[in-house]
Amino acid sequence: MIIGQFKPMVNRQFVLARRPAGMPVEADFRLIETPVPVPAEGEVLLHSRYLSVDPYMRGRMNAAKSYAPPVEIGGLMVGGGVAEVIDSKNPAFSVGDIVANPLMGWQEYAVSIGLGLRKIDPAIAPISTALGVLGMTGLTAYIGIHEVCTVISGETVVISGAAGAVGSIAGQVAKIAGCRVVGIAGGPRKTQYLTTDCGFDAALDYKAVSQADGDYAAALSKLCPHGIDAYFDNVGGPISDAAFTQLNLRSRVAICGQIAQYNDVQAPQGPRLMRYILVARATVRGFLIFDYTPAQITPALAQLTEWVSAGKLKYHEDIVEGFENMPRAMIGLFLGENIGKRVVKVA
Ligand SMILES: NC(=O)c1ccc[n+]([C@@H]2O[C@H](COP(=O)([O-])OP(=O)(O)OC[C@H]3O[C@@H](n4cnc5c(N)ncnc54)[C@H](OP(=O)(O)O)[C@@H]3O)[C@@H](O)[C@H]2O)c1
Repeated sequence: MIIGQFKPMVNRQFVLARRPAGMPVEADFRLIETPVPVPAEGEVLLHSRYLSVDPYMRGRMNAAKSYAPPVEIGGLMVGGGVAEVIDSKNPAFSVGDIVANPLMGWQEYAVSIGLGLRKIDPAIAPISTALGVLGMTGLTAYIGIHEVCTVISGETVVISGAAGAVGSIAGQVAKIAGCRVVGIAGGPRKTQYLTTDCGFDAALDYKAVSQADGDYAAALSKLCPHGIDAYFDNVGGPISDAAFTQLNLRSRVAICGQIAQYNDVQAPQGPRLMRYILVARATVRGFLIFDYTPAQITPALAQLTEWVSAGKLKYHEDIVEGFENMPRAMIGLFLGENIGKRVVKVA
């Protein structure tokens, strides 16, 4: 959109209306309208094309500080987006440029001084992939597999939350490295996606196990007869409890996310599994993609881009239409609605 042709007047934004108790609901968010900001000297005006919804946003809705400060009540919901430059007073950006902005927020328009903006080439892949396979979640998958799980060819790698944005890419990155990959996800549609589209060697439907006897460890050991050398954990909870019991000597566990616990009001009680880590002399490491430097991120992104361009790395996008559906789209992550990366198409 060219600003000279159409001057937007209203900026729709989602702010935090109240802190959720447990599972978030739509009433926890409020849609407000503010004037579209005017870029000052050195700034650009951005129009959102796609906005990301991610599990970490749930943590920002709590009062407690985590690795990042919480969103205040009445404050703009945080999040990344892909946007078009529609006005520029910054010589580094031209009208029409497409950029990924990790600080876009849940809004249709934003101004930026350009800090953290990454120019996107629409010729390489759909621009929405800058939020997924060629963005934060793809990079988390790549770094988690290579820098944290430090996988080597022939190892058995288990991925929880395997059909989601991070998990589906992490498993394929491990496959490319020559590993045997087992994914854990909810429902037959997802397990089929993993083995058919993503090339996983096996997949466990944890919801089916839960409805049968609930013995995740027994079900996992059938799929991993030689144990687990690396466990990429996106979910935590009872699924991870089961994975811990199958760890091999000198195995590595990457704690990427714990979505099963993000809506907990009280700390959950679980089995004490430290002895499995002791016996296996396993390494368990939490990691955040934001801690990695451009020297690590740039080659990882180049590699992911090459694989996507060559058709070696498959990705699926779950696109929700309409800015007004941001809350519903985010809540749906906790209901397992998505396969691959969920994004909201704004304009
Ligand atoms: N460390 C980092 O830097 C970093 C970066 C990005 C993301 N993460 C974390 O990585 C994880 C995956 O993120 P993502 O963006 O790829 O999300 P995602 O997997 O695309 O979406 C969330 C998925 O989690 C599963 N899920 C929801 N509630 C669950 C529960 N109670 N038990 C088990 N599974 C549950 C659902 O799949 P099912 O249908 O299979 O249950 C859902 O589709 C999250 O924990 C996130 O916080 C970490």
